[in-house]
This record gives sequence, C-alpha cells and structure tokens, in this order.
Amino acid sequence: MKKITIAIDGFSSCGKSTMAKDLAREIGYIYIDSGAMYRAVTLYSIENGIFQGDRIDTEKLEKHIGDIHISFQLNPETGRPDTYLNGVNVENKIRTMEVSSRVSPVAALGFVREAMVAQQQEMGKAKGIVMDGRDIGTTVFPDAELKIFVTATPEIRAQRRYDELKAKGQEASFDEILENVRQRDYIDQNREVSPLRKADDALLLDNSNLTIAQQKEWLAEQFNIVV
Ligand code: C5P
Repeated sequence: MKKITIAIDGFSSCGKSTMAKDLAREIGYIYIDSGAMYRAVTLYSIENGIFQGDRIDTEKLEKHIGDIHISFQLNPETGRPDTYLNGVNVENKIRTMEVSSRVSPVAALGFVREAMVAQQQEMGKAKGIVMDGRDIGTTVFPDAELKIFVTATPEIRAQRRYDELKAKGQEASFDEILENVRQRDYIDQNREVSPLRKADDALLLDNSNLTIAQQKEWLAEQFNIVV
C-alpha cells in the first residue's frame, strides 16, 4: 500500500493530537506532535532566562535556536511518543499551564517557525507520517494527500483540557483554561507568519458533538478514500 502524508490542523485542545496519535498507531505511521516542538522551545526559553517576566529576549533566543534539538521516542508504557529536548524527556514539563500560557508568542516568531518547519519537513521526508499542528497543511506539507482541519467550540475545548489536567492530578481552573484557549486562538489566527487557517483543500471536522468512536470512524473513512 502506498504511504501518504496526513496533515491535521486546528484550534488548541480540539482533540486533534489524540485523533492523530490513534490514527498513526492504527495504520502504522509515524506520529509527530508539532505543537510539542513549540512547547519545548518555550520550556527551553523559560529554563534559560530568555523570558523576563512576559517579555521574550528574542535576540538571545535567536542566538540559541540552533542549540535546541527536539526529538520523539516511543514510550512503551503509554504506546505514544514522548518529547525530548536536547536528549532529556520533557513530556510532562511541556504540558503545564506555565508553558501553555507562554507558547503562542514564542510560536509567532519567524525564526522559531523557520527552524521548526525545517525539522518537521525532514521528519516527513519518507512519508508514512501523521503530523498535527496549526500550519501543517498550509506550510509544512502543502502537498499532503490528506488534510483535515479540526474545530470545536472554545467552551468544549476548555472543558476537555480541564478534565485532562484533573485526571493527571494537576491544579486547574476552568475559567483560566477558557481564557488561555481564547487567547491562543486569537494569537494563532492573527500572527503574521503562518497564521492558523484551513487549507483550501482540507476537510473540515467540527467534533463539538462527536464521540471519540464516531470521530475515529469518520477518519478511517477519509483515509480509505485517499489510499
Ligand atoms: O498543539 P498545542 O496546543 O500543543 O500547541 C501549542 C502551541 O504551539 C499552539 O497554541 C500554537 O501557538 C503553537 N503551534 C504552532 N504551529 C504548530 C503547532 C503549534 O504555532 N504547527
């Protein structure tokens, strides 16, 4: 069977990572979470004094961007890839509210995007990949054979993230999460470089009222049509 490239884009916390991971596992493709890469750059910035309060020292980050190496390794316990920053497993550290609230301005910087897009294109060279993010179908893999754009209402997305954090035993406030979801939507859609938008040839999936099983079935159908 021919191997294709699958690009899944959409708003934050709309369940696209879960959907992309499950699909990749089922069809034996590699899964790459491009958001994790921007989160890792943000964590690096927090840990290396690149943030002064909310201000980003862009000059310092640009000087160090070449030192930031991100990779993924399958975690045999979860069956999903963990994110590594310069060889260190940072999977849990990049999912905190501190990183979530600082990632969008970092991801809006042109030189950060350039560096990440180059790494992503390299990872996808051999096809057989499912990548999720904001600009995969528009910028990273404009020739992807299957493109999906996922959305759901901000309230539903905030509730999902809230449940996820609670399940992990992390402190969470629904209002704070909803505010963070809205803020990230705004920054992601309005930034100058690669703003979040649906590629013209992407299929739209609003999963506000879909169960995971229904979504899975829909996705399998789309995959079978293309392959
Ligand atoms: O997908 P996730 O919510 O983990 O992504 C974190 C942040 O990284 C997003 O809010 C967005 O600002 C940024 N991002 C991006 N381009 C991508 C993936 C994520 O700008 N391809």
